[in-house]
Amino acid sequence: MQQFDVVIIGGGAAGLMCAANAAARGRSVVVLDHANKVGKKILMSGGGRCNFTNMEVLPKHYLSANPHFCKSALARFTQWDFIALVLKHGVAYHEKKLGQLFCDNKAQDILNLLLDECAEAGAIIQANCAIESVTALTGESLPARYKIHTGLVEYSCESLVIATGGLSIPTMGATGFGYQIAEQFGLKLKPRSAGLVPFTLSPTQLEQFKECVGNAAEARVSCGEQIFTENILFTHRGLSGPAILQISSYWQPGQMVTIDLLPNMNLIDYLTRQQQARPKVLLTTLMAELLTKSIAQSFCNFVPEIKPINQYTPKEIHAIADVFHRWEIMPAGTEGYRTAEVTLGGVDVDDLSSKTMEAKNQPGLFFIGEVVDVTGHLGGFNFQWAWASGFAAAQYV
Ligand code: FDA
Repeated sequence: MQQFDVVIIGGGAAGLMCAANAAARGRSVVVLDHANKVGKKILMSGGGRCNFTNMEVLPKHYLSANPHFCKSALARFTQWDFIALVLKHGVAYHEKKLGQLFCDNKAQDILNLLLDECAEAGAIIQANCAIESVTALTGESLPARYKIHTGLVEYSCESLVIATGGLSIPTMGATGFGYQIAEQFGLKLKPRSAGLVPFTLSPTQLEQFKECVGNAAEARVSCGEQIFTENILFTHRGLSGPAILQISSYWQPGQMVTIDLLPNMNLIDYLTRQQQARPKVLLTTLMAELLTKSIAQSFCNFVPEIKPINQYTPKEIHAIADVFHRWEIMPAGTEGYRTAEVTLGGVDVDDLSSKTMEAKNQPGLFFIGEVVDVTGHLGGFNFQWAWASGFAAAQYV
């Protein structure tokens, strides 16, 4: 039996952050991960450049059954704290857009930063370590409170941190282990679903937009109260791109999504002006100046008759504007966990302390990162939650 103050299961963003900071407090720490390497999602993140945080991190950038839960941890380890770490390690970075910070070189720089912090503080990392079971120890074994059974070694610890992430990208080592442990110890779970995920369309819809595959447009995408203005991308399966990924976290099956393909203009005014300025120009030609040719053509197919712009009545101009400003689409579904960036839902935050991330009814058991029912928008917010929740727990384990 190997004894540690802290055992962390899951060597992703949250687990490594927690390990480095707990070890820096003088705690003996081991990170156990079943994958052959830790931090795989960091490596694949941000298209290989890791969007590690955002210049503006606010509670409104997170979804949770309790939107107040994330505030405490986010306030105690901010984006500036992570940027300070990035600077300390000499990692070159840049702001891409909307405050999103990416590595100049590769995501490996962020993983190296975390591994260096762990090594410097003395945290041990054990990959290739499948966990068989976890049991709570009884009074006489205190301070040890948990026993972790692996195929090879048994570990005991005072604090057990679950940092096993969500269900997205199973091929990268994602499992429902964290949820099983939560249930084993009586914590509630919020329903889980794929978030930040492309939409799929029905075969009929795919046929309508087949010429658009590979084309992008800046669009205002809305569902219920939520609105995101960013690019959308037509794919072989349906719709993707940042605005679609963002709205997918708010979408429920059966809900309609409204897309404005020309969010920065009033098409009625524009086309009315063109009736004077360029009366003989065909509608398709005018629209292909505003959108890609394929998108313009595919949407013009919804206009009953294509003619020179001066031949449309004001009522027809209104109807054309609706085709482009109010495209209403019912997604068939999402691509699911196979391509989702995150898992919505998870360990119910009502059962955790927002200060320590410890289970309220299970002393010494902590949950951090994506396994918790806190999910960020696209833009570096999920890593910031991993850093912040990992740091918060590290102060108390
Ligand atoms: P994470 O998933 O990182 O780590 C969990 C660890 O637990 C893994 O190492 C896994 O092997 C291990 N594990 C799982 N089950 C286990 C078991 N049973 N036993 C032992 N170990 C187990 N976010 C962001 O802010 N900016 C970005 O650029 C991106 N980009 C991005 C791209 C892609 C393709 C994906 C899929 C996701 C992103 N994300 C992102 C989201 C981000 O990667 C995610 O929110 C964090 O990695 C979550 O960190 P965690 O540490 O909670 O889990």
